[in-house]
Amino acid sequence: MYKRSIVITGGAGFIGSHVVRLFVNKYPEYRIINLDKLTYAGNLANLKDIEDRPNYRFVRMDVCDFEGFSALMREEHADGIIHLAAESHVDRSIKDPFTFARTNVMGTLSLLQAAKIYWESLPEGYEGKMFYHISTDEVYGALQMNRPEGIEPPFSTAASSSEHHLAYGDDFFREETRYNPHSPYSASKASSDHFVRAYHDTYGMPVIVTNCSNNYGPYQFPEKLIPLFINNIRHGKPLPVYGKGENVRDWLFVEDHARAIDLIFHKGRAAETYNIGGFNEWKNIDIIRVVIRTVDRLLGNSEGHSLGLITYVADRLGHDARYAIDSTKLQRELGWEPSLQFEEGIEKTVRWYLDNQEWMDKVTSGEYQRYYEEMYK
Ligand code: NAD
Ligand code: TYD
Repeated sequence: MYKRSIVITGGAGFIGSHVVRLFVNKYPEYRIINLDKLTYAGNLANLKDIEDRPNYRFVRMDVCDFEGFSALMREEHADGIIHLAAESHVDRSIKDPFTFARTNVMGTLSLLQAAKIYWESLPEGYEGKMFYHISTDEVYGALQMNRPEGIEPPFSTAASSSEHHLAYGDDFFREETRYNPHSPYSASKASSDHFVRAYHDTYGMPVIVTNCSNNYGPYQFPEKLIPLFINNIRHGKPLPVYGKGENVRDWLFVEDHARAIDLIFHKGRAAETYNIGGFNEWKNIDIIRVVIRTVDRLLGNSEGHSLGLITYVADRLGHDARYAIDSTKLQRELGWEPSLQFEEGIEKTVRWYLDNQEWMDKVTSGEYQRYYEEMYK
């Protein structure tokens, strides 16, 4: 008999696989059910090291499958949901917004309604239950690019907000910042966040929403900036920089996000929102230079060897200028802080991709999608 039974959706994806691994390893007394449709972004090879654990179960399911999810909740007596499954890439949302509305909005609503019906049918009702929705800072829209002249990294390694204020002033996304999404991706995530809060306000469901900045680290699908560029450098392929490369993103190591999710799931207050970020802003072109320098060094290339691969291309439509999270509330209330300085995180990440070329080659060749069929035939 397990102490808790938690469904983690999107557990075969990038962040989800880190959350599943953390929960399966740290809480043998919990049953962890990984629910994932295995779209192009889902890869069970991300969880090879824990797939045989007794407290782990994988279920291939679409979050839009209301009947299937209702039956799963009853079968597993689920008391917690950590919802990460989503379509997550902005460029894809620009080409195919319907898929984003379906999965991110209708899928979230379907999970909420199934959880509501199941939990309300129990004698204890919502007591001891939690619907935790993982969202993004992109729902807040974009900030101005206002870095003062002459201030360059390493302010990016600032561990404290005061150092950050020196560089950027007081212009951040905070929990109370008005939603103002610009891309079909962020519009769909904003919509799902509103539905989650509506289930608290209307039915009294215990919910938490967190909005995190850009993640990086092992197991990220190589359509996103950092793994794409590491792989392209390895193959001597062009590095497509959108626009002038001046857009600013706030980067967090994925394991620090997973630790925050663990902490908030257990200690966060229901109906609250927490912003998650490490006060770590970088212009794209600066981060690209750091990645190039690190990959070249680890591959034994001369310094600057791969700089010539930088290729400026047409800008992304509606490209948000700057994201920056103020995570003071999380740091103050729950004592969370990022464990890694950015340079360490990038070094760890580049090493991981170079040491796991087989993972990358299987992903880029499409072979990873046969893993499920082989494992579960
Ligand atoms: P990802 O694209 O790597 O993984 C998404 C996972 O969801 C995949 O395993 C995929 O198979 C699964 N999935 C997609 N559609 C599904 C469906 N209809 N039914 C069931 N499963 C489905 O995404 P990620 O980068 O790990 O992001 C996870 C969550 O965190 C998302 O909700 C995203 O919005 C949020 N987030 C991501 C970042 C980031 O930088 N990556 C930052 C903040 C928040
Ligand atoms: P991405 O990793 O797609 O994350 P997001 O769009 O959610 O922030 O992109 C990070 C930044 O890098 C973003 O400003 C777009 C830019 N970018 C490029 O310049 N070239 C690329 O090939 C990609 C994928 C992204």
